[in-house]
Amino acid sequence: MTTPLVYVLNGPNLSRLGSREPEIYGSQTLDDVAGLLSEEADLLGLTIDFRQTDDEAELIGWIHEAVDAGADVVVNPAAFTHYSYAVRDACALVTAAGARLIEIHLSNPAAREEFRHTSVISGVATGTIAGFGSLSYLLALRALAR
Ligand code: DQA
Repeated sequence: MTTPLVYVLNGPNLSRLGSREPEIYGSQTLDDVAGLLSEEADLLGLTIDFRQTDDEAELIGWIHEAVDAGADVVVNPAAFTHYSYAVRDACALVTAAGARLIEIHLSNPAAREEFRHTSVISGVATGTIAGFGSLSYLLALRALAR
């Protein structure tokens, strides 16, 4: 039996989790987050495809891939959140196709520097979860599993 596929996509600099501003992002590495998510996905009956890139074009290509697969997407667009209309347009394809896209953040960008208060992604997302560290990812998977 096949279980529903969810793309979990991570944008720039998230490969540095663990050593990058731990007071903001915590001490878990991206591999730690991937491991937690994989356990949660098993419990929820989901299959996840977990990826990270620093490259905008690659991220857009992966979002297109999810659209073609009819898969839901959990995305932490990282800094692209705040200015990439190209990533936004790709995310809009997911929801326009009838799949769900959850924007997630480890930190709460609304409580940080002014430039982080704008998300160009939120307007085309099914929902946004921010501020719970790695739990933001787990909560997104739980929302999709319901
Ligand atoms: C982030 C928040 C963004 O503002 C920042 O550029 C990131 C990480 C988060 O997960 O809290 O790289 O998306």
